[in-house]
Amino acid sequence: MSEIKKIGILTSGGDCSGLNVAISAVVKAATLKNWTVYGIHNGTEGLTERPLSYEILTPQNFSETPWAKTAGSYLGSLNKGVKPELMDEVARRFGEGVRELGLDAVIVLGGDGSMNVLQRYCSQAGIKMIGIPKTIDNDTPLTDISIGFETACQVCMDSIDSIETTARSHHRAMIVEMMGRDAGHLALQSAVAGGADVCLIPEIPYTLDGIIKKLEAVKASGRTYALIVVSEGIKTENGEMLSLGKNMIGEKVHGGIGDYLANLLNEKYNGFQIRCTRLGHVQRSGHPVYGDRMLATLFGAKAVDLLSNGQTNVMVGLDHGRVDCYPLKDVVSAGSKRVDVHGVYVQAAKLLGMYIGEI
Ligand code: F6P
Repeated sequence: MSEIKKIGILTSGGDCSGLNVAISAVVKAATLKNWTVYGIHNGTEGLTERPLSYEILTPQNFSETPWAKTAGSYLGSLNKGVKPELMDEVARRFGEGVRELGLDAVIVLGGDGSMNVLQRYCSQAGIKMIGIPKTIDNDTPLTDISIGFETACQVCMDSIDSIETTARSHHRAMIVEMMGRDAGHLALQSAVAGGADVCLIPEIPYTLDGIIKKLEAVKASGRTYALIVVSEGIKTENGEMLSLGKNMIGEKVHGGIGDYLANLLNEKYNGFQIRCTRLGHVQRSGHPVYGDRMLATLFGAKAVDLLSNGQTNVMVGLDHGRVDCYPLKDVVSAGSKRVDVHGVYVQAAKLLGMYIGEI
């Protein structure tokens, strides 16, 4: 028997396409149960800062605006991390915020990092939580896929297609650097679908010679251009992780390996002129594709259904086409989901002759 009357919903971590579809689904399903939905602004900040920042959400917020079908987060999000020494204090303020609003449970749209942090806040403050996985990195464990991943793949694949036209005109090898943090899902799946010649991901070591050999083979085949996809999380050949700066708590932010490799390859190989494009935050945009809209709708509806049936402290997930849920403590202990180097995408890449590293 559900005792829920008021719930909070927030988006945490890097935004992505499909978040608003999920928020809208939660609001619709919860409103039908006569629950009040508090949309918490700017990730956890709406509850940890004072004054509290939130708004009451109704289906009209989404039906009478284009919000449900646009990328980004209607509520705003936060991707700045928390210093370990401040965790307990922030958790305390979060708990106070939830109690001040009288929320019976909180639904969190987040990736693996947010599940970890929010699970800690909620368990420390005795708050019921349901997690909904979202991230363009697709590294949230215990779910086949997270909201936002498919749209990001679409953006990346379209970018490969766009870059191919100029690569062809100028007879160049073009490097496209993609996000994904320490997981290569986004780069790998976009490279396979986009027909790249080389794809480098953090899970598989590579050599410069391996890349050059592939470029030579492309040239020998008579093709006058080549496409190289690199994931931002790969290291240099010497094992160094490049960075474009630090986030607000001083952690290094990935980026720059594409330009680094372009310079190095231009020095060591003159078969093609090499140029690099770092796609950057455009990867978090894009009109949500069918797969993300469906996933976000299924996950949003499931989250409300779980709460209504008295189930909490779980994350919803997709398991071979079935919407299921998993204890948050298992999600946290599973860590980040990496590319299966024996999986179908790596296998397809190899069968297509792509250089994917030393495997
Ligand atoms: O986790 C999503 C993500 O887009 C990563 O792929 C990327 O490394 C990171 O966020 C970028 O974070 P920020 O928006 O803080 O630059």
